[in-house]
Amino acid sequence: MKRRNKITIVGSGNVGATCAHLAALKELGDIVLIDVIDGIPQGKALDLQQSAPLEGFDCNIIGTNDYEASTESDLVIVTAGIARKPGMSRDDLLNTNAKIAIEVAQNIAKYSPNAYVICVSNPVDVITYITYKVTGFESNRVMGMGGVLDSTRYRTFIALELGISFEDVSAFVLGGHGDDMVPLVRYTYAGGIPIEKLLSKERIDAIVERTRKGGAEIVSYLKTGSAYYAPAASVIQMAEAILKDKKRLLPVSAYLKGEYGESDIFAGVPVIIGGNGVEKIVEIDLTEDEITALNNSFESVRKVLSKVNNLI
Ligand code: 2OP
Repeated sequence: MKRRNKITIVGSGNVGATCAHLAALKELGDIVLIDVIDGIPQGKALDLQQSAPLEGFDCNIIGTNDYEASTESDLVIVTAGIARKPGMSRDDLLNTNAKIAIEVAQNIAKYSPNAYVICVSNPVDVITYITYKVTGFESNRVMGMGGVLDSTRYRTFIALELGISFEDVSAFVLGGHGDDMVPLVRYTYAGGIPIEKLLSKERIDAIVERTRKGGAEIVSYLKTGSAYYAPAASVIQMAEAILKDKKRLLPVSAYLKGEYGESDIFAGVPVIIGGNGVEKIVEIDLTEDEITALNNSFESVRKVLSKVNNLI
């Protein structure tokens, strides 16, 4: 008989705890919430567990400081690390979060050698690279969440601008999860209609710019941390695609081996994501301008990556 999926979430801050909540509501599997701080994962897990009779989910949720409890997880979500404060870029988090990522990856490899891994901690494309190298897992099993979040922000702004259902905007954002990410306007549709037929260039440009700064906009409001509801929802969309073998076509930070002219780097590209993780990277036609923008974004990821090569 098939047992329930086991999902470990490393880091029980706002993103980790919200991931646990959404995963439980969707009954994706039993959940282990891990954190270095004693009491926080235990308290949040127990609180979440006590919502089960009300929400009607059958998932066991435990909180712990010990990786032993994560043994043989099917999926590990890495949210551990510090978040941005106003004025900081995601890259400013590198030194602290890279060290945390190495330790987390060693524990994933030790306790859950067959797991799929979704990285969320920033700078996410580089943290995902570190996780890939340190775990030694095949590249289809390690991926980063950035593009789904950037795309949902972009889709939100377009829906609000047009006064239409959020469901009717389809779009994706490629490149690194940084200020020079690439929202692909030419591939953006509202109810099947190209967005360029519905909005002026000026309005589209403003939406693209707001999308690029979408994370910083939230940080500037929260002041003590960064976004978590939309990030967690983005992670759970990817988690569900893997655990239910949905074969979604989503922008995912994936390991490139020549696709889009890049190798040995993680960055956001369209991916078919299913039971085997990153099952296929989909290459699409791009204009010269789009290629330039994407290369620029890859270059930014590479710059940050060059700072951690000595650590791994
Ligand atoms: C964001 O864009 C935290 O990177 C995340 O909000």
